[in-house]
Formats: sequence, structure tokens, C-alpha cells
Amino acid sequence: MEYNFSDRLKTLEGNAIREIFSLLSRPGIISFAGGFPAKETLPVAEIGRITADLLENGGAQQLLQYGGTEGYSPLLESALEYARRTGIRETSVKNALIISGGQQGIDLVFKAFLNKGDAILVEDPTYLASLHILKTYEGRAYGVKSDDDGLNIEDLEKKIKAYKPKILYVVANFSNPTGKTLSLEKRKAIAALTAKYGVIVIEDDPYGELRFAGERLPSIKSMDADGNVVYVTSFSKTIAPGLRTGIAVADEQIIRKMTIGKQATDVHTSTLSQAIIDGYLRRGLLNPHLKEIIPVYKTRKDAMINAIRCYMPQEIAFTDPDGGLFLWGEFQNGFDVDGAFKEAVAETQTAYVSGRTFFASGDVTNTFRLNYSMSGVEQIDIGIKRLADFFKKKIAKKIAK
Ligand SMILES: Cc1ncc(COP(=O)(O)O)c(C=O)c1O
Repeated sequence: MEYNFSDRLKTLEGNAIREIFSLLSRPGIISFAGGFPAKETLPVAEIGRITADLLENGGAQQLLQYGGTEGYSPLLESALEYARRTGIRETSVKNALIISGGQQGIDLVFKAFLNKGDAILVEDPTYLASLHILKTYEGRAYGVKSDDDGLNIEDLEKKIKAYKPKILYVVANFSNPTGKTLSLEKRKAIAALTAKYGVIVIEDDPYGELRFAGERLPSIKSMDADGNVVYVTSFSKTIAPGLRTGIAVADEQIIRKMTIGKQATDVHTSTLSQAIIDGYLRRGLLNPHLKEIIPVYKTRKDAMINAIRCYMPQEIAFTDPDGGLFLWGEFQNGFDVDGAFKEAVAETQTAYVSGRTFFASGDVTNTFRLNYSMSGVEQIDIGIKRLADFFKKKIAKKIAK
């Protein structure tokens, strides 16, 4: 049958990273392409104990029953407390909505605000799933230039004036894909500028707690005087992504609209997942857990940076993040690392993600993302050396031409 799909999805391709998973599932491949937390960091035993306790003593029937869309009340409180670690001042659960992962929070904000053709500003490059989601609402993404410390504020104001966007989407801490962090001054400038021009900000913060260097910075939401910032975070990178649980914090009116949108999406986030996360937070397990897992990420990031310094050609500039799961490479000589992807995987048995799909325009071909959370230090050294040798050979060929 010839299916008559909606205009919204007709031309939309699958998420590029999900599409390459099949290519990477072959044995022996070292993959720096994914973005999962290290599997060794998942708190399996604690989650097992909490779940058993909840089912035996916590009112199993309630936890296996339908719940309210807003969220499981104890978690609304404990997760709001978690979000308040970033300086957020909201104390009422009326300002909070439990979401099925941060990605759903982004989706619900777009759902609440976007009409067909509305403009959205994103840092260039940005989280590719957000580009993907906004296309499903037929929004138009415009990229804002990025400096070493995040969004370029002059370009932001220029593009606010030019495109009159409804929304600015930004990852302030250890961004996916670049690993960059917005400076304090820029956070203040973004809060002030977006309030001045009436732009909604989605502050997406899945990685903020995974800081292994430098000082924690307050969220943009903590500087929100006008109620235009929606803060979205989840427990995917700090506890476990499979539990699909996060929180959005925003003005009550925005939360109300997001709640209505969520009713239509999934009714509510799994009650059992919510109760497990709440149990984890209330037992005080999060801080000790973070203390254990942050050094794992730091060790892997350091191993990748050391290998890069040792093997990679000078023509590539890399970021050196203070936290999170990713770093970013950019060929200063314009090498088409996007076009070279399949050959690179076949020849080196090592994978990166091309940066192309992280740009609003989708046409930048000289950048790539490397994930360091999912490989051990030895694998990191071997994989970076293999990629470096491949890139050096390609650069030498290009010069010889
Ligand atoms: C920047 C960013 N935002 C949001 C998400 C979504 O995470 P989740 O829906 O698991 O909370 C991710 C996941 O990798 C991400 O990198």
C-alpha cells in the first residue's frame, strides 16, 4: 500500500544516531557515537532494593495503578528539591511537572507554544533530537553562533530581532554535542535579553550534575524575573535513563498547558518509575552515587583528551569539557568528516558521529562529536589512535592532490 503520511512527518528522516546504531552493533567496533551513561554507573542493586521495598511496603496497588498527569506527589516535591540545586527559587509544586525524560519536557514546551512556521533559535550546533522534535511541530530552526563559552550574545540579539522567535532552546551545561558550558555573564545576558523581547527559553539541563572540573553555575531559570524560562532536567544521566523520569519547572500557566499536552501524550509518567526515583532521592543515595560516577567520567574524558593530544593531527580543534559525556572536533582545514564516516568505520572499526545533523542548517560537514562515557580508557586510547591515523592519511592525501 502507498501510505499517505502527514505532511509533518513525510519528509522527516530518522534520528541520525539511532539510524547508525545498526552499523555499530558489529563485534569489535569501538563506538564513540552513542551518548548513554556508562553501564557500570547504573545503580542496579539500589534500584532493586528500592523496588522490592516499594512493592512490599509502599502500596503496590497504588504504584501499579494510573496516577495524576502532574506527577506522583512525593516525587514532585523531591524532584523540585533536586532542580533547586541549580538556584531555582520556585518552591511550589504548581510550578513543576513530572515528565517521562527530559526529551518529553522539550516536546511539551514545543507542543504548548509552536504553530506551523514559528521560529525557534538554537545554539549552532545543538542537541539533534530537539531539532527533530521542533520539525514535528513544523517549526523553523535558526542557528545562533557559538563561542567557547556558549551562545554568542550579539548574534542572539541580532537573530531575535531578525526572526522574532517564540523559543530559544539552550543546553547551558556541558552541551550535547560540544561539551561547552555557558558562562555566568552569558546566562545573565540570556535571561535579560529573552525577557526584554518576550522569548520563551527552554533551559535543557541533563548533564549539570556531572561536573568534574570548575565551579557549579546557577541556572538561567534562577535568573528568570519574567516567567519566560522553562527548566527541564531528568534523572537519565544521574540515576538511570530506563526509568524515563524527569522534571520541568516553569510558570504555573506554562506548566498547566504542558500538563494538558502530556495528558494527550502518555497520560502520566510511570508511577513505579517515579516512586523508585523518589525513594532513591529520599534515601539520600544521589550525592554518594554522583561522588562515585563523576570520577568515572573524568577518567574517561582525561583519557580521550590525552589520546587526542598524543595522536590527533593539528588541523583538528577539540573542546575540553568540564563535565558531561561529549567532546567536539572541528577540522580547521574544512575536511569533509561527514562524507568520510562510512569509510572511517569500515577502515578503523571505530565510530564518531558527524556534526552535520546537529546544525540548524544541516550543512556543516567538517565537525564531529565524540562520546567518552561508554568506553574504557584502553579502548579510548586505541580508538582515538585509529581515528587519528585515518584522519592523518586523509589530510595527507588532500594536500597531495
Ligand atoms: C541535551 C539533551 N537533552 C535531553 C536529552 C534527553 O534525555 P532524557 O529524555 O533521557 O532525559 C538528552 C539525552 O541524551 C540530551 O543529550
